[in-house]
Amino acid sequence: MSKKRCFACVAFALTVALAQPAAAQLANRSADEWIATLESPTRIQSLKIYETLAKLAIKPGQMVADIGAGTGIFTIRFSPAVKPGGKVYAVDVDEKLLDHIMEAATEQGIVNVVPVLGEFDDPALPDEIDLAFINDVLHHIEHRDVYLKNLAGYLKPAGRIAVIDFKPDQGGHRNQPELQVSQAQTTAWMAAAGLKPVEEFNDLFTDKWFVIYAKR
Ligand SMILES: C[S@@+](CC[C@H](N)C(=O)[O-])C[C@H]1O[C@@H](n2cnc3c(N)ncnc32)[C@H](O)[C@@H]1O
Repeated sequence: MSKKRCFACVAFALTVALAQPAAAQLANRSADEWIATLESPTRIQSLKIYETLAKLAIKPGQMVADIGAGTGIFTIRFSPAVKPGGKVYAVDVDEKLLDHIMEAATEQGIVNVVPVLGEFDDPALPDEIDLAFINDVLHHIEHRDVYLKNLAGYLKPAGRIAVIDFKPDQGGHRNQPELQVSQAQTTAWMAAAGLKPVEEFNDLFTDKWFVIYAKR
């Protein structure tokens, strides 16, 4: 190949590569910053963890995925709910957070948590999920439609996806439209992924929406 043609090929390949949308985490933080933020007592209280768990109605033996598990606040609490026989997949894109979760699990003698280093557009799970839980995460995902379609592919036929996120005019991102996901928009992405809303909880939070989706 002539030098001129070779240069043209390289330039073309570069143009194609740069034109691909590179997936990333929106509003990224270091693991240490996430740990300090996520574990603050005010936030923990605002999560209404046990009320949320009750709404999820997790059964023994189920396979639950905590998508964007962070420090494992929910992962650790899902663990006893799936016993005996079930597993909790803690999915995150930050390996240090997964290490943090597994250290806590080991300290507490928990053996049914499996860490999963997900990709930005794909949680990379086994095809056996009964419930995927996404709390305070969807707005950090850049290609939400792609992610939800991939996630839906890992559900069992009766599998569910539970989403909790901030109402666009509430929470810390109310002045950042790029970090907002509305219930209506999410329901449209879910519909494209073959899921419909089956339960909606309006009584738990004033600043967040909480919907469970399942296959049609
Ligand atoms: C605000 S924290 C919420 C953590 C946890 N769900 C909670 O409520 O305590 C957002 C988490 O989502 C993770 N995250 C961001 N983008 C992600 C993606 N594409 N896939 C999986 N996790 C992601 C971040 O690393 C971070 O741990």
